[in-house]
Formats: sequence, structure tokens, C-alpha cells
Amino acid sequence: MMHPLRRFLLLLVGLLPAAAWSLALPRFPGPQPRSRPGVNGVADYEYETRYFRQRLDHFSFPGVGDEDEAAAFFQQRYLHRYYGESMPFGSKAEAYNDSKSLAYLTAEQALADFAVLLTDLKRNLSAEGSPVVLFGGSYGGMLAAWMRLKYPHIAIGALASSAPILQFEDIVPSTIFYDLDLKTSGDLSDWLSSAYSYLAMVDYPIPSEFLMPLPANPIKEVCRNIDSQPEGTSTLERIYAGVNVYYNYTGTVGCFDLNDDPHGMGGWDWQACTEMVMPMSYSEGRSMYPPYKFDYASYAEDCIKSYGVRPRPRWITTEFGGHNITKVLERFGSNIIFFNGLLDPWSGGGVLKNISESVIAIVAPLGAHHIDLRPATPDDPDWLVALRESELKIISGWLSDYYGAGGALFQPVAAKGSSSS
Ligand SMILES: *[C@@H]1O[C@H](CO)[C@@H](O)[C@H](O)[C@H]1NC(C)=O
Ligand SMILES: *[C@@H]1O[C@H](CO)[C@@H](O)[C@H](O)[C@H]1NC(C)=O
Ligand SMILES: *[C@@H]1O[C@H](CO)[C@@H](O)[C@H](O)[C@H]1NC(C)=O
Ligand SMILES: *[C@@H]1O[C@H](CO)[C@@H](O)[C@H](O)[C@H]1NC(C)=O
Ligand SMILES: *[C@@H]1O[C@H](CO)[C@@H](O)[C@H](O)[C@H]1NC(C)=O
Repeated sequence: MMHPLRRFLLLLVGLLPAAAWSLALPRFPGPQPRSRPGVNGVADYEYETRYFRQRLDHFSFPGVGDEDEAAAFFQQRYLHRYYGESMPFGSKAEAYNDSKSLAYLTAEQALADFAVLLTDLKRNLSAEGSPVVLFGGSYGGMLAAWMRLKYPHIAIGALASSAPILQFEDIVPSTIFYDLDLKTSGDLSDWLSSAYSYLAMVDYPIPSEFLMPLPANPIKEVCRNIDSQPEGTSTLERIYAGVNVYYNYTGTVGCFDLNDDPHGMGGWDWQACTEMVMPMSYSEGRSMYPPYKFDYASYAEDCIKSYGVRPRPRWITTEFGGHNITKVLERFGSNIIFFNGLLDPWSGGGVLKNISESVIAIVAPLGAHHIDLRPATPDDPDWLVALRESELKIISGWLSDYYGAGGALFQPVAAKGSSSS
């Protein structure tokens, strides 16, 4: 019998990129894979890009004849719709045109995409009996956990890395993100807070090229730059020197555009204005930002102005849960690893306690945003190597269980041939 680890199909739900947030809306960082070779640029890996004919709306049934192929389907890269090259309606300009065309950018549609893709892919590979484990970081980690809960017949388990699935409604205090953020004011303030929030997330012990090319321990580097300015340097000049580490580490940036979002992930703003309403406040004195209390009414007003939509702040917990999560998942959930690094402000909305034997929290005090899913390097600290090993061990256990049970869950029901989904 082949080792189970070699027999499973991996699905990278995606370390989903997300864009820079202004003060009121912190965003997820994400890989903007760089094509140049070097420290984990995309050119370091061999991969193939594949596309698949995907349905635009999994939850409605256009009448026969009303179904215009170009409107009802799109060529989807094996990744999340509306991001990267997976654009419905033929182009980003059309997909992002207005609330009508963006209506299909939801977590539910994305999960259904993965379910359809996996089912079809397994059929094509004659691998219907192979178990699938989901991997995702950040928003992708939320999707991985939610997909395990919603589609247990499709995936036997999930590694949800730095997934703030509790950052909704009042499950965790709305101040938690900024309280955990680094301990300066209009456009300049937004731009700086974006740099500082990101730095807190990506404070990796090794050089990275994840959001921006950055040195190892970038926060130390920022502080070193601030402190090393000559006597008499103004505060603003010091901040500028510090932030240079983030926005201009390579020394090739000609000038800074305060409205420029180098992470370019407009889709998250839409998602935040529809279902992903994560209340964020700053508490007095605890964070470096002026106090601010999340105000749903003005949040909703901004969304109506930007997109003409009203958010549904209670929908995510209605659809995926989150309240009393320990009680719910200890009885009704299984095979999920929640990884969190405590340097990462998003850990405040993460699952930090073990829930059951197979719903496990792995917490790394020195870890940053989904550091476990970063490519392994020879310079990785021992704790990181050890924690990746324990994740693998847990996942191997799930696979052994699956094969031990005869793999009965995933036997094909019908004969091959039909490929409609
Ligand atoms: C884009 O949106 C505008 C109004 O929001 C609408 O009039 C126009 O038809 C839309 N364009 C496409 C290509 O859908
Ligand atoms: C499965 O095979 C069919 C026929 O070759 C193809 O059209 C489809 O895109 C494949 N599915 C996936 C997920 O690649
Ligand atoms: C980026 O760094 C280089 C080298 O230190 C410097 O010449 C350039 O002025 C910096 N860019 C900005 C916008 O400060
Ligand atoms: C959470 O559980 C407590 C009791 O254990 C209950 O009073 C409360 O209503 C629950 N909250 C939600 C949102 O279900
Ligand atoms: C959860 O349990 C695992 C062992 O199954 C352990 O390695 C881990 O440290 C525990 N997590 C927490 C946060 O206590």
C-alpha cells in the first residue's frame, strides 16, 4: 500500500491576496507572486496554470434557452473567482463594473467553485476515492475551515492558517486587531497605518518577498532605521526613514504615491461591504492610532456610496457559525487545524484553543501571518520546522483514519462519463 501522504490530493484554497486597508479597514496581506527569481518568487517553482469552465452562479437555475454561454459560464483558473486571472464576464473591467457584476463575488460561490472543480478533477483523474485536504492562509484559511464544515463529503480535513473566523459581529472585541498591532495623522496616516499593519503581519524571521521585498525581522529593521537617524532629525523624517524599509527596501522606488495600493486587491473591499463585515475599533491609549469606535451606520453608508450595496453584517455567522464555536465544533466538527502566529494582529480573531481531538489550535508565539505556509528555507528557526512537522503528523493521522475506514466516504456513486455539474 502506498504511503497515505502520497495518495492525497492537495488543494491550495489560496493564500488569498487582499489589498491595503485604510484606517478603518485592515486588509489581509497576500502573495502577489513575483515573476522574478529569488527568494520565493513564483519563478522558483515549477507549475502549470489550468483553466476550467465554471458556472457563474451556483445557486440559481436559468431556464433552458435563457442561458447565454458567455454570461452563464467563465473560464476559471483553478483559483478564487474575481482574483488574478479568474474573471467572469471576460475581463476585470466588466467583472468589477458595478454591484450587479460583482454580485457573484462571494465566499459561498467560491466554495461551490472549489467543490465543483474538485469533483470534476477527481473524476478526470479517476481519483474519486482519493481524500482531499484543504490548505489556506488568511481569507483562504477562512475558506478552508468553512469548506471543511460545509463540504465534509468533499474534503476530509483543512489546515486553516491565520484564519480570523471569529472577527465577526461581537465574537471577539472589535479593538483586538489594533490592540495587537504595533505600539503618528488624513492620507499620510492611512498610508502609514497600512505599512505598520502589514509589517506586524509579515514580521518573518527570514527575508521575504511576500507583499514587498523585505529583510528578515523587518520591524527590527524599521526601528533600527528610525533610531539611526542623526540627532536633530524631525519625527516625520524618522518615520519616513523607518517606513522606507517597507515601501522601498530594494531602493528602487522613485516616489511614493500615498493612494497607491501596491497589493492591488480591489475585490476584498466589495467582500467587506457585503458579507465580510469585520468591526474594527481602536481603543484609547492601547494602540498607536487615535481612538475610534466602529460605527456600523457610517460603515454601511460608505458601502452604499462606493458600491450601492448594504452590507449584511450577520450573514457570515448565520452561514458559517462562529458564536460559541468551541461548543459547536467539539461535537459537530472534525479534522481542522487552526494555525496562528501571535505576532500577527489577525490572530486576535483566530481560534487559539484546542476544541477537540481533531479540531486543533497550533499557536506560535513568534509566528507571523501564516508563516507555516511560507516556503521552507534552510534558515527557518527550529520552532517553525517543528511546527510544520506537527501539522504534517496530524494530517497524516487524518489520512490513516480515512484509509483505515476503507475510504468508503468517497467512492463514486455513479458510473463515469457524465461530466455535467
Ligand atoms: C456598467 O455599469 C453601468 C452602471 O452601473 C451600466 O450602465 C453598464 O451597462 C454596465 N456595463 C456593463 C458592461 O455591464
Ligand atoms: C475534465 O475533463 C474535461 C474533458 O477533457 C475538461 O473539459 C474539464 O475542463 C476537465 N476538468 C477539470 C477540472 O480540469
Ligand atoms: C528609495 O531608496 C533609494 C535608495 O536609498 C533612494 O535613492 C530613493 O530616493 C528612495 N525612494 C523614495 C521615494 O524615497
Ligand atoms: C452561546 O451559548 C450561550 C450558552 O452557552 C447562549 O446563552 C448564547 O445565546 C449562545 N450565543 C449564540 C449567539 O448562540
Ligand atoms: C492542542 O493540542 C495539540 C496536541 O494535539 C498540542 O500540540 C497543541 O499545543 C495544543 N494547542 C494549544 C493551543 O494548547
